[in-house]
Amino acid sequence: MPRADRPSALPLSPTGPQPLVDISEDNSKVTASLPSGDRVEILLHGATVISWKGPNNAEKLFLSSKAALDGSKAVRGGIPVVFPVFGPPPKDHATSTLPQHGFARTSRWEYLGKTSSESTSTRSALDSSVKLDFGLSNDMLSEADRKKWPHDFGLTYSITLSTGELGVSLEIKNTGEKAWEFTTLLHTYFRIQDISKVSITGLEPTAYIDKVGGAAQKSAAGSPITFSGETDRVYTDSTNTILVKEGNSTTFEIVRDGMNDCVVWNPWSEKAASMSDFGPSDGWKNMVCVEAGAVKEFLKLEGGETWQGGFRARLPGAVDD
Ligand code: BG6
Repeated sequence: MPRADRPSALPLSPTGPQPLVDISEDNSKVTASLPSGDRVEILLHGATVISWKGPNNAEKLFLSSKAALDGSKAVRGGIPVVFPVFGPPPKDHATSTLPQHGFARTSRWEYLGKTSSESTSTRSALDSSVKLDFGLSNDMLSEADRKKWPHDFGLTYSITLSTGELGVSLEIKNTGEKAWEFTTLLHTYFRIQDISKVSITGLEPTAYIDKVGGAAQKSAAGSPITFSGETDRVYTDSTNTILVKEGNSTTFEIVRDGMNDCVVWNPWSEKAASMSDFGPSDGWKNMVCVEAGAVKEFLKLEGGETWQGGFRARLPGAVDD
């Protein structure tokens, strides 16, 4: 293989501090941290990322203070994985008896292992990263879910932590012989200081479905998204980088890969109050969901076929570019 095409080798004897991965004693949670201080926590329940901290130890995801973390229901906050159906399933579809957002977020996943890329003495500790892989397949589902959706599948969910950046990628494989259909989405609750000062750019050239206005199709607004009430929009067919800004500064930069739809959601006060697992009561001011996905229409996977999509969220300013 020509030298330039070879994958770069991991250092043989890394010298600096290295990424650490810890599995909780009760085998319910995997935590990874980098020498830079970046940290991520993932529950095996739903393979839900429940915490992501940047190098300054600040939490970047919203997690409801009333979220159930014991596997009894989907986690309210973090990054629940939506599969094989987004939202309430349509009638007369193979997913129609599944609960809203499917079963991936309520199933127990398996931790498949880590791959780390370690820093060397010639570069600072800031260049290390760690990738954690999780798996879910049809034989791991509850009997009830298997009955509702009796298809053969394998999901591999990879979470990559690097300094100032979290990458998540979902590979969906039809491991059977018969075709099936799915929609999917990564339901990310970003933590922000004050929703009234948030604006989102990147989706303004894109048409959307306004779920608050009775699922009306709306044309592109042409201006950044701002928030002054319940917001629940499905933007479709866009590949732009999305910026979440607070005032003039950019808090998150989101680059998607294969997930060309995006849901933007904030429940606001009334809807938040109606959710038994939402807390504190004014917590909706500190969250905005920007949910990369493929939800516009069902995608079909023939036997043996694989689909892959994900996103990277970067904290601008966390690393000198
Ligand atoms: C969003 C949907 O993705 O998820 C909203 O667009 C929904 O309509 C929200 O209310 C939360 O869903 P759930 O099932 O976690 O309460």
